Amino acid sequence: MIKIAPSILSADFARLAESVKKVEGAGAPYLHIDVMDGHFVPNITIGPPVIAALRRYTDMVFDVHLMVAAPERYLADFIAAGANILTVHTEACVHLHRTLAAIREQGIRAGVALNPGTPPQAVEYVLDLVDLVLVMTVNPGLGGQRFIPEMLKKIAYLRGILNSKGIKAEIEVDGGINPETAPAVIEAGADVLVAGSAVFLSENPAEGLKRLLEPREIAGGDFNNQPPTSDD
Ligand code: DX5
Ligand code: ZN
Repeated sequence: MIKIAPSILSADFARLAESVKKVEGAGAPYLHIDVMDGHFVPNITIGPPVIAALRRYTDMVFDVHLMVAAPERYLADFIAAGANILTVHTEACVHLHRTLAAIREQGIRAGVALNPGTPPQAVEYVLDLVDLVLVMTVNPGLGGQRFIPEMLKKIAYLRGILNSKGIKAEIEVDGGINPETAPAVIEAGADVLVAGSAVFLSENPAEGLKRLLEPREIAGGDFNNQPPTSDD
C-alpha cells in the first residue's frame, strides 16, 4: 500500500492547522515536515515550536525531514516537539551510524536521506538501523522543482538491497512528485511519496492527493529492482 506524505512546505504557513486537517481528512498517513537551517540548505523554514503547536491538532505520523547541519544537536528537541520519524541527511552527519542509533534509542523511527549526488552505497552499512530511506529526487531546499529521472535507478537499487537483506525499512521519495512522475517511482520500488506542491498548490488538496495514486502510463523508467549483482 503506497503512502502519501504531504509536505507542508507548500502549504499556507499562516493556516497550517487548517491545511493539516485537510490532508488528514483525505487519509494521508504521514505529514512531511521540512526543517531547513540556512546552512545545510540555503533556506530557513520551521523548527520545534511550530511542530509542537501542530502536534495538538492531529494524530498523523510526523515525518520530520531535517535538512540541518550536524542534526545530532537537535534530536531531543524534535522528539519532544512530537516527531514520530526523524530523518537526517547522510551528507550532514559525520557519525551517521551513531546518530541513527541515537534516534532509535529515544524510541522513535529513524530515517536516512540521500541527496541526488550521493550514491546509494553511502547508506548500505546503516540500513539495519533505519525505518525509512529518503531518496531525494531534487536537490533539497525548495519546493516545486523538477524531478530528476536518474534517481529511479537509485530507488530500484535500494529496493533490491533491502529486499535481499530482508530489511523492512520503507523507501520514501521527495521532490517533484506529481501524477506524471509518481507511477515510475512506485514501479521502481518506493513505498512513501512526499508531495508538496502537487497537494497544497492544488485548489483542492484532497483531490491533489488522490490524483497521485491514479494509475497512469509510466514516463521513463529504464531500471529494474532486482538485487544488485557484482557487476552493478
Ligand atoms: C525539498 C523538500 C521537499 C519539498 C517537496 O527540499 O524536502 O519535501 O516540500 O516539494 P515538491 O513536492 O513541490 O517538489
Ligand atoms: Zn522533504
